[in-house]
Amino acid sequence: MPFSTIPAEVGAIRMSIPAFHGMTTQDGMLHFCAYRIYGASAMSYEGPVIDLSDRIDDRAEADHEFRLHRSIFEDPYIYDAELEFCFERVWNFLCHESQVSNPGDYYATHIGNQPVFVQHQEDGSVKAFLNTCSHRGAIITPIKQGNASTLTCRFHGWSYKCSGECIGVKNEQGGYGDEFDRSHYDLAEIAHVDEYRGFIFGALYEDVPTLDGHLGEAKFFIDLFADQSPDGMEMVAGSQTYVCDHDWKVQADNVTDGYHVSTVHRNFMNTILAREARENTEGLLKTEVGRIKGGVKNGMYYLGNGHMCIWADRSSPGGAPLAPATERIEDEFDEIKAHWMLRRGRNIIVFPNLVLNDLATTHQRTHRPLGPGKCEVTIWCIAPKGEPDEARFARLRKFEDFFLVSGLSTSDDVVSLDTAQEGFHGAEAGWNNYDRGLSTMCAGPDEEAEKAGINP
Ligand code: FES
Ligand SMILES: [Fe+2]
Repeated sequence: MPFSTIPAEVGAIRMSIPAFHGMTTQDGMLHFCAYRIYGASAMSYEGPVIDLSDRIDDRAEADHEFRLHRSIFEDPYIYDAELEFCFERVWNFLCHESQVSNPGDYYATHIGNQPVFVQHQEDGSVKAFLNTCSHRGAIITPIKQGNASTLTCRFHGWSYKCSGECIGVKNEQGGYGDEFDRSHYDLAEIAHVDEYRGFIFGALYEDVPTLDGHLGEAKFFIDLFADQSPDGMEMVAGSQTYVCDHDWKVQADNVTDGYHVSTVHRNFMNTILAREARENTEGLLKTEVGRIKGGVKNGMYYLGNGHMCIWADRSSPGGAPLAPATERIEDEFDEIKAHWMLRRGRNIIVFPNLVLNDLATTHQRTHRPLGPGKCEVTIWCIAPKGEPDEARFARLRKFEDFFLVSGLSTSDDVVSLDTAQEGFHGAEAGWNNYDRGLSTMCAGPDEEAEKAGINP
């Protein structure tokens, strides 16, 4: 059943861990699942073959029951295979174009465990390199974001042009001899860099599908972000990065787990509603809580290639930071798309590492694995360029309220997920149940997807 929609309140984690779903449909061998998901029949996998047949209890078709053994969140061999197949051999989100908008601008990040940086070239193109010196491997730019026409390694001082060309070797004259050829030591460029609507992605190896093919149905949901301003989106300056004591799969799954919202975030809702009542908050500063309160139309789509979306109609669309743009959006786009943009909140994961969230505010997040049971998360506010000051003000205040680690909700998410990971040590209990909503899952697009012209 490759195409499915699931009511979000009873969403099914089974579909949000596509790698593990894939494993169940083959013979339980991890490398086959990667072949199936990414179509990478030419991949070679050097690691051990991992038999997952005793870690997955898949009776979804027959009994609507699906369980995963908790060891999948802690096993170092599974982790190593995931790092390779779910991250390092596929397209990863690297940065937004607004973070490298001028020649020389660079942004450092990771693809799986491999450090990379993106740099805007003098000719306007964008390249990405392994963030490691060609001499003895030191990190070229330990600074996350900046601008430089050349980058100089801090270890022994070799330097590189924006293009990756090695242009300076300390004591080259006299120290290295006539046979030394500096051109052998340019930075290693990654195989692919491409962008979609301002979101820049990269892949380390040649054998990946096109970015367009990788994103597939997720493009509709990226467009709902990118079209919020005629000038595109921008990352608001500043970000927060935090390390979590839970597995990357737990973090990724939570993106489209609508089931936790009414419990984990009830405290957020009650606090915000009490504050708004006390302060007579009106208009754009009112926070959307329809998803938390429940009772709004909602759903979840599996979009293929690991991408997923969860959505819920807004109970107070007039409070959305995009509300001042209502007239323009209704003029510019058809009724269905305008409805999705203005009156329907969305949370999507672009597999494996990008999260775009448009609910009370707009927020972008990335996660990367740091080991079995550990991951790192970075969050930003992403916003339409040129929006009115009052909209930007409201967007930022709501971003702080919910998403900053000092806010009221992210901390609750992290604690919930960390305690789940801690609970996985209860090995004797063995299994986690993930069959929520399987009996309500339908194949192919539902009515809302059909109207939007998407094929989840
Ligand atoms: S490691 Fe970079 S110059 Fe030596
Ligand atoms: Fe949450």
